[in-house]
Amino acid sequence: MDKLLIRGGTRLEGEISISGAKNASLPILAGTLLTSDTVTVCNVPHLNDVTTIIALLQSMGAMVTVDDKLNIAVDNSDISERCAPYELVKTMRASILVLGPLVSRFGEADVSLPGGCAIGARPVNLHVQGLQSMGADIKVENGYIRARADRLRGAHIVFDMVTVTGTENLMMAAVLADGETVLENAAREPEVSDLANFLNKMGAKITGAGSGTIRIEGVDGVGGTSYEVLPDRIETGTYLVAAAMTGGRVRLKRTSPDCLEAVLVKLQEAGASIAIGDDWIELDMTGKRPRAVDIRTLPYPAFPTDMQAQFCAMNATAEGVGTVTETVFENRFQHVLELQRMGADIRIEGNMAISTGVERLTAAPVMATDLRASAGLVLAGLAAEGETVVDRIYHVDRGYERIEEKLNQLGASIRRVPGF
Ligand code: UD1
Repeated sequence: MDKLLIRGGTRLEGEISISGAKNASLPILAGTLLTSDTVTVCNVPHLNDVTTIIALLQSMGAMVTVDDKLNIAVDNSDISERCAPYELVKTMRASILVLGPLVSRFGEADVSLPGGCAIGARPVNLHVQGLQSMGADIKVENGYIRARADRLRGAHIVFDMVTVTGTENLMMAAVLADGETVLENAAREPEVSDLANFLNKMGAKITGAGSGTIRIEGVDGVGGTSYEVLPDRIETGTYLVAAAMTGGRVRLKRTSPDCLEAVLVKLQEAGASIAIGDDWIELDMTGKRPRAVDIRTLPYPAFPTDMQAQFCAMNATAEGVGTVTETVFENRFQHVLELQRMGADIRIEGNMAISTGVERLTAAPVMATDLRASAGLVLAGLAAEGETVVDRIYHVDRGYERIEEKLNQLGASIRRVPGF
């Protein structure tokens, strides 16, 4: 298994471009299943999770081609398998996103249950209940969700809790359903809106995405299109925190400042100067040590759980005491145990991590446990004294495109070494 070797202590300076959003690319690629026409998706990041969803589409019979500009063309005219096997779902939970489109277009889907994961139980009961309200007959047997329907019908669905992929799955299921579907207490994440924009470009009739109530008027069919995925707000936030922690100054291009308000406010509270344009963000923390901040994770537009580990790392070296409260996932503090091994003074009380910043973290061998935890550890390594070794970086590769190249471009000293 590859490792990252990070020699810490360099201020990050310079500019880099942000990649397309992983969490928009995955549902959009799944959404291509709604048509037999060819769909081209642009600005898709080159990541392990994207490779997994493409492998899943191919295993069902999709023809996928990538051109020299890395645009991905998907031809789903010959889908012979309507199944997402355990082997693929276990490597990426978001594979559940094929459930809605498959039932909507073909009236059948067999999708493996994802099971637990490193950050908590993560059930998919709301996806299943929503499809049942739309008339699908669902059995759970042999570890698989087996869904059947003649044609889904529109339904009024009120989510018990805000679920991002649940909202996306049911929105896609409703596209070809008979009649109107209303999703209440829907997720308002920018990636949900991006998926809705994509589906509308294919010919769907969706309004209200980005608000808590989404209406989908079912249509008889949708067709091919070409679509550019929005920038990755979590990648953007991660590099901003990296710059803040190292007392640096960076300009991130090809990003979307509008989607990051809650994160930018906290970085300003930490002492950073932020400037934004239409598609760029500049953060200046030159020579300063960040102040510790209090954050509480919640669904969008509040502070994202996917930025929690990075802020834990920042608080660990910041001035003062900061609290991080995790309300979305029950077990998302595994990075804290690794940060403690780097000298961080953090204690966990229930769903809160209380951190008293130390002047300098010290390098240690650490282990990535999940995608965002691994980002937190990379950031800690950038700010630590000595050479940090981050193991199990396949987690990093699930969500960060060319991370060592981008960080080195900003002056960091980080390299990948093959594991043994
Ligand atoms: C998505 C994101 C992930 C992010 C998370 C929260 C993708 C591919 N992944 O994950 O990066 O961390 O949103 O912003 O977009 N829940 C249920 N029953 C369900 C569904 C969810 O109880 O049927 C619970 C979950 O256990 C969790 C909460 O709802 O506690 C939110 O989870 P959800 O929004 O569904 O996360 P994902 O869509 O899996």
